[in-house]
Amino acid sequence: MMTILVSQMSILLLLLLSVTTFHKSMCSNHTLFSCNENDRQTMLTFKQGLNDSRGIISTWSTEKDCCAWKGVHCDSITGRVTKLDLNNCFLEGKINLSILELEFLSYLDLSLHKFDVIRIPSIQHNITHASNLLHLDLSYTVVTALNNLQWLSPLSSLKNLNLNGIDLHKETNWLQAVATLSSLLELHLSKCKLNNFINPSLEYLNLSSLVTLDLSWNNFTSPLPNGFFNLTKDITYLDLSVCHIYGEMPSSLLYLPNLRHLDLSYNQLQGSIPNGIRQLEHIKYLDLNKNHLHRSIPYGIGQLAHIQYLDLSKNMLSGFIPSTLGNLSSLYSLSIGSNNFSSEISNRTFSKLYSLGFLDLSSLNIVFQFDLDWVPPFQLGGLYLAHINQGPNFPSWIYTQKSLEELDISSSGISLVDRNKFFSLIEGINNLYLSNNSIAEDISNLTLLGYEIWLDHNNFTGGLPNISVGTDLVDLSYNSFSGSIPHIWTSLEHLFYINLWSNRLSGEVPVDLFDLKQLEMINLGENQFSGTIPMNMSRYLEVVILRANQFEGNIPPQLFELPLLFHLDLAHNKLSGSMPACKYNLTHMINYDRYYYAMVYSATNDAIELFTKGQEYYLYDVSPNRRTIDLSANNLSGEVPLELFHLVQVQTLNLSHNNLIGTIPKMIGGMKYMESLDLSNNKFCGEIPQSMALLNFLEVLNLSCNNFDGKIPIGTQLQSFNASSYIGNPKLCGAPLSSCTTKEENPKTAMPSTENEDDDSIRESLYLGMGVGFAVGFWGICGSLFLIRKWRHAYYRFIDGMGDKLYGILMVKLIRFRRN
Ligand SMILES: *[C@@H]1O[C@H](CO)[C@@H](O)[C@H](O)[C@H]1NC(C)=O
Ligand SMILES: *[C@@H]1O[C@H](CO)[C@@H](O)[C@H](O)[C@H]1NC(C)=O
Ligand SMILES: *[C@@H]1O[C@H](CO)[C@@H](O)[C@H](O)[C@H]1NC(C)=O
Ligand SMILES: *[C@@H]1O[C@H](CO)[C@@H](O)[C@H](O)[C@H]1NC(C)=O
Ligand SMILES: *[C@@H]1O[C@H](CO)[C@@H](O)[C@H](O)[C@H]1NC(C)=O
Ligand SMILES: *[C@@H]1O[C@H](CO)[C@@H](O)[C@H](O)[C@H]1NC(C)=O
Ligand SMILES: *[C@@H]1O[C@H](CO)[C@@H](O)[C@H](O)[C@H]1NC(C)=O
Ligand SMILES: *[C@@H]1O[C@H](CO)[C@@H](O)[C@H](O)[C@H]1NC(C)=O
Ligand SMILES: *[C@@H]1O[C@H](CO)[C@@H](O)[C@H](O)[C@H]1NC(C)=O
Ligand SMILES: *[C@@H]1O[C@H](CO)[C@@H](O)[C@H](O)[C@H]1NC(C)=O
Ligand SMILES: *[C@@H]1O[C@H](CO)[C@@H](O)[C@H](O)[C@H]1NC(C)=O
Ligand SMILES: *[C@@H]1O[C@H](CO)[C@@H](O)[C@H](O)[C@H]1NC(C)=O
Repeated sequence: MMTILVSQMSILLLLLLSVTTFHKSMCSNHTLFSCNENDRQTMLTFKQGLNDSRGIISTWSTEKDCCAWKGVHCDSITGRVTKLDLNNCFLEGKINLSILELEFLSYLDLSLHKFDVIRIPSIQHNITHASNLLHLDLSYTVVTALNNLQWLSPLSSLKNLNLNGIDLHKETNWLQAVATLSSLLELHLSKCKLNNFINPSLEYLNLSSLVTLDLSWNNFTSPLPNGFFNLTKDITYLDLSVCHIYGEMPSSLLYLPNLRHLDLSYNQLQGSIPNGIRQLEHIKYLDLNKNHLHRSIPYGIGQLAHIQYLDLSKNMLSGFIPSTLGNLSSLYSLSIGSNNFSSEISNRTFSKLYSLGFLDLSSLNIVFQFDLDWVPPFQLGGLYLAHINQGPNFPSWIYTQKSLEELDISSSGISLVDRNKFFSLIEGINNLYLSNNSIAEDISNLTLLGYEIWLDHNNFTGGLPNISVGTDLVDLSYNSFSGSIPHIWTSLEHLFYINLWSNRLSGEVPVDLFDLKQLEMINLGENQFSGTIPMNMSRYLEVVILRANQFEGNIPPQLFELPLLFHLDLAHNKLSGSMPACKYNLTHMINYDRYYYAMVYSATNDAIELFTKGQEYYLYDVSPNRRTIDLSANNLSGEVPLELFHLVQVQTLNLSHNNLIGTIPKMIGGMKYMESLDLSNNKFCGEIPQSMALLNFLEVLNLSCNNFDGKIPIGTQLQSFNASSYIGNPKLCGAPLSSCTTKEENPKTAMPSTENEDDDSIRESLYLGMGVGFAVGFWGICGSLFLIRKWRHAYYRFIDGMGDKLYGILMVKLIRFRRN
């Protein structure tokens, strides 16, 4: 797992570095000999298509010597341009691939830009001189889809091609196009929306030089053609994860004797893992030619002698887990979790896996036969054993693993642990997932050193544990922790997520707790905390849940000035006084940035799709798509400040069971996203404003037990609720309550004027809403990483190895987005 972690970290670091230093290092200068005039002209033509309004390549005209231009490298003897590296410079405009005409160019990196289109020289326009190009990286450059890859064909020297993230769904013959590149060693076509393996002339293709092939995150929606791997005999790295591949694992996979990295995760592969010729025993007629079997498969998967990384997780593979798997003594990372195997698995399977560092067996519906005193031949860095019925005993062999950094053994029915061994094991683990077991230990004397601590849904007792300064996420919800929050927690400056929901905690909350520098989500609900709500708040707070405690005193106005807040739940406390009279400056609830979240979601689209396919587990209930204010069941009194009704994006508003007075302002009609409105059990009075009929999304309405009077306004929505939404208001009448005897005589005189007023105030509230939004600005919302981190964390749990990919993509998108 170390290397996986390292690779994740390095991607992050790279991305972060690229943000901070791209001006300096990525577009480095090289002062060399004066350059060739042809090269100079070609590059100037290239520049013409670009929009360099930020002057990133301004040296491309000011400097006379083009070898000194940003990103340009020349041969020191001939002065010809050999290398052009503009990666990560965030240029915009149109990229003209006639830049490939640079005669001696061997290295071209234009990755991470935002070009509208690639202008491809027509096939007649010969790129005759481009045969020197060895390295071409255009990953994540172009927004629009590319029609074809024919322009690649003259680049016959190409060894390394990276087109990740370029939309190639229109190119129906990509395999043919890349197969013309006979020198190709590395091919990266991840996230290209490729949708077929169709090749009219598969036999004539020769990709035998290929060593690295990354086709992950595409949409093939087909089985893997068996002959496909015949093309790539020397391959060492093959990534076909998240490709919508179904059917059986092709046996041709086993003829890749040099394979070191095989990732087929997140597909719909069926059938069994090839386990050698023995599994064919019952087959009466075997046409080896048709299957391109040219040798027998004595050891099945065990034949991949050099394999180090094998990920078959998240498929529908069934049958036996082949014993020959245990022959793969070079194996470092083995993931076969989330499949439908039917056999048992025992320590014998692992007896030769000396090199194993990462093991994922989670969500396997099989019997585990590990001897109690088994000492594995390996030391794991990461172990994923979630959703396997291991309990009630914590598997004792795990105690022998002294370098575990990640452990997920959630949902495994564990209640019994060897206390001392267990304590010393969990204290040091970086990412600790023990959720949803029945562990009932007192861990108050422990200091947990992890970054992420998930102990939710257990029976832990005693005081809260100490947590180290490095921790950024702690979920201890649904346990029996008692006592108060240790003051030391207020120094945890990396903490962004605290969930203590449903414990037996009490006492006052440390005054600085809400003021942790990074805090985004705090959930202290369903405890017995008392005292007042702290006044100082982290300005990154997005979620505050204090529901069902004994908090008293006033609601601090600071809560209504948090620009990113989208979920505020203070219900069922003893809060009193009136609601704060301040500028309700909750930008997210006024000006929810659909574009931003749409952008983030589009990046996570595949992810969400994967998630919702039955992988969902402890996804947080709160989401920026559900903007909520719940202050119900307190002792709040006085009028509701008009400011509250400026929060036009709120979808759930619950003020019920308080002592609030006054009328519902007409501007409530401007809260047009409202889905659930509960004002019941207060002392509101006056008429229900006609504008409420404008709340088209309203699904839940409760105005009962107040002093409303007059006629319930006519509006399809308002009449669709039954009487219980309105009862307990003796002076209220009209459908669905009994009809109004007095007022019905002159309904016309009352209506028009109220409608006009309503229109005005609605307009006013919309206008105000926008104004505040502009003032506070949009970057605040973009500063929010809650969602992204949430996905990242969720990813570590469920898509484990995949987190880096997603996070990388997200970061790229975000960085680009912020740049613009
Ligand atoms: C160049 O980019 C800037 C910033 O993205 C934009 O404001 C400007 O309109 C663009 N100019 C052209 C000519 O596209
Ligand atoms: C691309 O550049 C070449 C010259 O290098 C020029 O002839 C061609 O017209 C350009 N294509 C477009 C679409 O601008
Ligand atoms: C492209 O090259 C071919 C053969 O090398 C030649 O016949 C053709 O005329 C060239 N086309 C152009 C537009 O230069
Ligand atoms: C597979 O490779 C063998 C030689 O290694 C060749 O004879 C055969 O035709 C190839 N099959 C396909 C479908 O490319
Ligand atoms: C494929 O190309 C390599 C050299 O690039 C050559 O040695 C090999 O024989 C070719 N294979 C076939 C089946 O054409
Ligand atoms: C994937 O391909 C299938 C069938 O070709 C299509 O129905 C589906 O919409 C595609 N999915 C995406 C995300 O492009
Ligand atoms: C591979 O495993 C099988 C079954 O466990 C065993 O019979 C065979 O000898 C092993 N081969 C090697 C090379 O270790
Ligand atoms: C899993 O395998 C069992 C039989 O072993 C079968 O009944 C079941 O349908 C399979 N489930 C899936 C999702 O393939
Ligand atoms: C919790 O664990 C049990 C097994 O102990 C499992 O059946 C259940 O599905 C798990 N709950 C969740 C939400 O994963
Ligand atoms: C915690 O440590 C204190 C002092 O060492 C000891 O008295 C107490 O029993 C310990 N609590 C638990 C639950 O181990
Ligand atoms: C809140 O923060 C301010 C400034 O950081 C500090 O002066 C004040 O004492 C804090 N209040 C509380 C209650 O901690
Ligand atoms: C919103 O709140 C911030 C921080 O409290 C404050 O600086 C800003 O002036 C407020 N904006 C408005 C429009 O009141």
